Amino acid sequence: MICENIGVKDNHLSFAGVDTVALAEKYGTPLYIMDEDRIRHNCRAYMKAMKEHFGENSFPAYASKAASFKRIYEIMKEEGMGIDLVSLGEIFTAHKAGFPMEKSFFHGNNKTFDDVDNAKAYGVGYFVADNISELDLIGLRSRSDEQSGLPAKKQKVILRLTPGIDPHTYDAVATGKVDSKFGTAIETGQAEQLVKKALEKEYIDIVGYHCHVGSQVFDSEGDVYLNAATIMLNFGAEMQKKYGVEFKVLNLGGGFGVRYTQDDPYLDIEANIAKLGKHIKATCKSLGIDVPQIIMEPGRSIVADAGMTLYSAGTIKEITGYKNYVSVDGGMTDNPRYALYGSKYTVLLANRMNEKADFTADVVGRCCESGDIIQPSVTMPKPQRDDIIAVCTTGAYNYSMASNYNRIPRPPVIMIKDGRDYVAVRRESLEDLVRNDV
Ligand SMILES: Cc1ncc(COP(=O)(O)O)c(C=O)c1O
Repeated sequence: MICENIGVKDNHLSFAGVDTVALAEKYGTPLYIMDEDRIRHNCRAYMKAMKEHFGENSFPAYASKAASFKRIYEIMKEEGMGIDLVSLGEIFTAHKAGFPMEKSFFHGNNKTFDDVDNAKAYGVGYFVADNISELDLIGLRSRSDEQSGLPAKKQKVILRLTPGIDPHTYDAVATGKVDSKFGTAIETGQAEQLVKKALEKEYIDIVGYHCHVGSQVFDSEGDVYLNAATIMLNFGAEMQKKYGVEFKVLNLGGGFGVRYTQDDPYLDIEANIAKLGKHIKATCKSLGIDVPQIIMEPGRSIVADAGMTLYSAGTIKEITGYKNYVSVDGGMTDNPRYALYGSKYTVLLANRMNEKADFTADVVGRCCESGDIIQPSVTMPKPQRDDIIAVCTTGAYNYSMASNYNRIPRPPVIMIKDGRDYVAVRRESLEDLVRNDV
């Protein structure tokens, strides 16, 4: 199986030690299920390795865009993680969950006045400024605190830079290239201009630099992280030397890959971090600088393999001489990733796991879009109506990317901890759908 929390018992698929067919019966489908023990296991793998190989002050900040709801932030708080936030909605959800906001990093490439004011009010620890225009905005809003009689304090800011690295992943998730929508390029000299501009601002305290090279990156990509770290450390050292900007924090973003199918490699988090730690220490030594506090922002590799989606099979359509379709009771509304990126998934017939897989079909949703495909060309035992179809590794960017297209309510999120299940997010009702309609 692609992850150790997946198994087979009595012809049924089990997840986190629980019978998935029984969960589908209990809560209905479509259904997101999440393995809390696996989430905690993944957090601890990062925490332990980062402290050991980067230094005691280092910590992982969970990129909560991967899956954002109150219970996740509670788990992150309990695990001592930081968090990466990209919107007021995520900030508010983390705040409602009682997350200690001083360990949060506020990202985004186009923060509004309202975002900045609210983020400050909720006590966000670090603003990650994407570009000059954002820096101006953060500086301006901090200054206006003083003008309106509020205590004006310097805002800790990290500058998001593009190291100019192509991780050869999907274009839509490769964000460290010079021409990316995100960050300010080192290569063009604009990153240095950004530093100079930040130094002129009374209410901005530049504490370091950030980069995120892309997502679903494996070590086979050829030392992407090592190269990014080299470029970022050189830049930080240069700014320290030229302008006296103390290089306190280096945030290397997220992006470690996960196994969606048997063809994906395993990524050893500890071994990768150990290699990176060794490289960072050696580079800092040769540059004559102290090792900055290292932050990483894993999202997918914290929650992806802790998630699974369960559907019921509906229409089975065989188009003679062409192809077959299995339609499920969800679709691109709960998982738009195939439609967006052509993402691969492992799909299983959960209630007949031991039967011969001899039927090939596209597993599709029920939205009015031909592109509403969960996965093409899946080979499994021929499903019948009401069989349970499981899609593995859906913990990241599924619930958080879900929509109400075709006015389809979002499925609930059921957490499993120590073999017991509980509701983390309720199923949306039809009333929820019309709540804001006037
Ligand atoms: C700035 C930043 N940090 C972290 C992440 C998390 O990446 P991943 O989920 O691949 O670990 C992303 C993903 O888009 C990101 O944009």
